[in-house]
Amino acid sequence: MEQKLYYWLHRLYMLGLKIAAKVLPISKPTLFIGKDALKQLCHSVSIMGIDKVLIVTDQGIVKLGFAKKLAFEFERVGVHSAIYSDVLPDPTYDQVEAGLAIYREQQCQGVVAIGGGSPIDCAKVIAAGATNNKPVRRLVGLLKVWKSPAPTFVIPTTSGTGSEVTVAAVVSDPKTHQKTPVMDPKLVPIAAALDPSLMLALPAPITAQTGMDALTHAIEAYISCNATAETDRYALAAITLIDENLEKAVKFGQNATARQNMALASYYAGLAFTKASLGYVHAIAHTLGAKYGTPHGLANAVVLPHVLEFSKCAAEANMAKLSTALNLTNQYTPDREKAQALIEYVKTLQKTLDLPSHFEHIRHEHVNELARQSLHEARWNYPVPRYMEQEQCEKLILAIAASTK
Ligand SMILES: [Fe+2]
Repeated sequence: MEQKLYYWLHRLYMLGLKIAAKVLPISKPTLFIGKDALKQLCHSVSIMGIDKVLIVTDQGIVKLGFAKKLAFEFERVGVHSAIYSDVLPDPTYDQVEAGLAIYREQQCQGVVAIGGGSPIDCAKVIAAGATNNKPVRRLVGLLKVWKSPAPTFVIPTTSGTGSEVTVAAVVSDPKTHQKTPVMDPKLVPIAAALDPSLMLALPAPITAQTGMDALTHAIEAYISCNATAETDRYALAAITLIDENLEKAVKFGQNATARQNMALASYYAGLAFTKASLGYVHAIAHTLGAKYGTPHGLANAVVLPHVLEFSKCAAEANMAKLSTALNLTNQYTPDREKAQALIEYVKTLQKTLDLPSHFEHIRHEHVNELARQSLHEARWNYPVPRYMEQEQCEKLILAIAASTK
């Protein structure tokens, strides 16, 4: 009885979120794509009348010379810049405050992120902090960004997080190691530049992991109960682009076309999940990330087939449609087999990309806690097609932990 009540309350709450996603104005960043994208973005900043920007990045991007290149391009169009380059993976409140201090001291009028998900998330929160006169911690949560952030522009150098289009930015609390999201439609950047020349240096394992993150965004959005015709179109576009380009981008890193298409796939997957939301793959991946530091894309890659196996009895029709879109089966194949073909496709992709199928670092004595935390995250956040109980989640995590040796 209690379970049934929870089920209906949950469905009602998710319906509320679906309506909110439809009604709330969620803008899309203007997209510049191709080898001139960076220059075009700089030009668009200059014609907005912005005199000085804060470039937010990390040391890896500085070493590759990309931060200098960006500052040079800004200077060419008459925009001055200051650089904050101390962003670390999983940026903390302190890093946001440090960037914000430079923004104020240098009297910047806009924020430009260049790098992976961490610099982009950090930049989005710096921009929100610049206009909202309250401590960064008080921006955490849903709809806490009252005033429009400073103009924000992003140049992703990895293809996976989708942070360039999403309404969220994650900041970590260094004391509790908890990842706390700032969620507000105002956080969506004004423009994004997808320049493949900035992605050619990305190592193969990171390309594979971030690509699997984008694939997970698209699949979880597609089988979500809050999916709409619009989010389905974006998810399908992302999935077919990933199918055609991820292996090429991993094995032939200098293939600019594959890099650009993967960047576009990540952008589309971001547009899909920012409205349709995610599911248990992300809940479990976040928990593994918090407990063991498992990289996000890698965790998603390993967890995805297990959650699809669990969800297929409720998501069979949608999984079958994905299978058809990927040409895995013919039109006469029953939905059940089509759904199974999608799971096998993900497993094959894992092998092709040299990704593991299991995690030996999961300790059996942690499984109960890992399951509890994963379900806690999923409970009021994700419109999943099939609910998971504690025992089922523990079983799933044990299957992920099982060694094939
Ligand atoms: Fe993700």
